[in-house]
Amino acid sequence: MTKLLSDKQRLRIQTRHKDSVEKFGYQPQALYWSNREIQQIRFRKLSEILPLNHKLEGGNIAVWSVLDVGCGFGDLKGFLQEQGFIIDYHGIDLSETMVESAQFQRPDIQVSLGDLFDFDPADNAYDYVFLSGALNEVVETEIEGTAQYRGRYAKAVIRKMYDTCRRGVAFNLLDARHPWIQSRPDLQSFMPEEIVEYCETFAVKVRWADDYLENDFTVYLEKQ
Ligand SMILES: C[S@@+](CC[C@H](N)C(=O)[O-])C[C@H]1O[C@@H](n2cnc3c(N)ncnc32)[C@H](O)[C@@H]1O
Repeated sequence: MTKLLSDKQRLRIQTRHKDSVEKFGYQPQALYWSNREIQQIRFRKLSEILPLNHKLEGGNIAVWSVLDVGCGFGDLKGFLQEQGFIIDYHGIDLSETMVESAQFQRPDIQVSLGDLFDFDPADNAYDYVFLSGALNEVVETEIEGTAQYRGRYAKAVIRKMYDTCRRGVAFNLLDARHPWIQSRPDLQSFMPEEIVEYCETFAVKVRWADDYLENDFTVYLEKQ
């Protein structure tokens, strides 16, 4: 069976992040974000899937279990905590350097090495599954690169995230309508309509937003 992510692509992602961490240390630039604000604008948009009454459920504070796919330094955990959410956080990342750095920065979090298919969580294992920026690189598999299979890996990850969540998924992708994105063949981007249409084939509820950054969009999938 053809692997969804080739060894070549894995190594490319791992090498890129090893180099960037060595160069920038614990900085958003090591994650290929231009600054902290850009990272947090994305987090804020993703967090809109979490219920606002999280502090009131049954008079108690709700604790959500969260899986963060492509977690980088695990900064989403810190962001959600600062917003007042109580979460049981688990990050996964393909880059060993990132996993080690995340563990060093945040000794209290659980982080695992691998992609979502290596990790292979059970269906409904986490309340919410998040992904920010981890599908922005072009994936070359043995068959990727032909128009027919473009985005195959990203779509498989999206579907697996949905199966893994009990309540919902929020993820962002680069927006193929933006001229700057079109000028960067090394970046993977999508038309929002294509992704929404794809998600509507399996998700109970699909919403999306593109009102926060010029070249990005966020998709929310809910099971109820
Ligand atoms: C742009 S960074 C974003 C990190 C983090 N989500 C944040 O916003 O701070 C993308 C991260 O995803 C990881 N990554 C890339 N492709 C991945 C994949 N297929 N599965 C898991 N992690 C991946 C990279 O190693 C990197 O740490």
